[in-house]
Amino acid sequence: MASENMVKRPEPQRGVLEIEPYVGGRASAERGTRIFKLSANETPLGPSPRAKEAFAAAADKLHLYPDGGALGLREAIAARYGLNADRIVCGAGSDELLHLLAQAYLGEGDEAITTEHGFLVYPIVTKAAGATCVTVKETALHADVDAILDAVTPKTKIVFLANPNNPTGSYLPADEVRRLQQGLRPGILLILDAAYSEYVSRNDYEAGIELVATSENVVMTRTFSKIYGLAALRLGWMYAPAHIVDVVNRIRGPFNVSIPAIEAGIAAMADTDHVDAARQHNDKWLRWLSEEISKLGYETVPSVGNFFLIRFPKEQGRTAKDADAFLMKRGLILRQMTSYGLPDCLRLSVGSEEANRLVVKALAEFAGVKAAV
Ligand SMILES: Cc1ncc(COP(=O)(O)O)c(C=O)c1O
Repeated sequence: MASENMVKRPEPQRGVLEIEPYVGGRASAERGTRIFKLSANETPLGPSPRAKEAFAAAADKLHLYPDGGALGLREAIAARYGLNADRIVCGAGSDELLHLLAQAYLGEGDEAITTEHGFLVYPIVTKAAGATCVTVKETALHADVDAILDAVTPKTKIVFLANPNNPTGSYLPADEVRRLQQGLRPGILLILDAAYSEYVSRNDYEAGIELVATSENVVMTRTFSKIYGLAALRLGWMYAPAHIVDVVNRIRGPFNVSIPAIEAGIAAMADTDHVDAARQHNDKWLRWLSEEISKLGYETVPSVGNFFLIRFPKEQGRTAKDADAFLMKRGLILRQMTSYGLPDCLRLSVGSEEANRLVVKALAEFAGVKAAV
């Protein structure tokens, strides 16, 4: 009691002050410069016009609470992917779902595993739940199933795997993900974060639907922020076994997804032409950018997402930081990767044709090479 009286102000629970606050992709450059934001893996095509219409129409309902269960949206998602709507939970971005899963399944003394260059939200949600984040080595910028399994201890409760991973752009084939799941104790939750799955066109890739449907310890999270172009609305969903759906529904806010998000999400999901166009744009320009930037002498890391890493030399004046400053002056905003343990890389999101050409031109200038754009 006496020691309680010594405390001068409210203290957060253990772990919270160890969190490095998440710093998102920058959105501004020097005043007066036209800006191309290529730092947050947003889609250059923007949202479906049908989603914009649905969003605008939702203005008439701003005084109403949303349907707390987001049933219409869950049914739209279920119909699109052939799922049971009861096994879906929607959230304010997949970030919220990651937080809820960590809150529900982690506590003091527990461990969650993530990989060396994994998405930075995983350590945040882990520490916010009072647990410890164990980071395992990757092999050539790919998650390493054996390394993950070797890191499992009796304290492990969650394994986070972004597939494909941000920022590396690498992915694990379905048989590797299955091997990972089979190597985990049934009491360990495997979270497959498939935020970029709609961009992947590889025969050996699966987002995780099958694995969720056939096991009791796998959850797949998805987002409307990337290919659907609804990042501003904060909308994500997860597909999970019934017992996990029940747990998350008990702790989530009762109205965690807004009416404009629900209605724009339903419309976005129905506009498959828009999604196809976004995928085609990405396929074409991801290839073009990687090839052109490689021709300038930079290593580009192969990616199945809508972004990729560019590696810069360590020589003064030619580093990733120097390149970033050079590009920023031209309104081209990329993402620095120091916080991801990749200080000699910048991450570039695939942009509009105009932005892509400007990036290659500016990088050619920076490298002192002539570009064919
Ligand atoms: C791997 C990964 N997962 C999840 C998210 C979060 O997405 P949302 O906007 O749905 O919260 C991102 C966003 O950058 C991401 O890169």
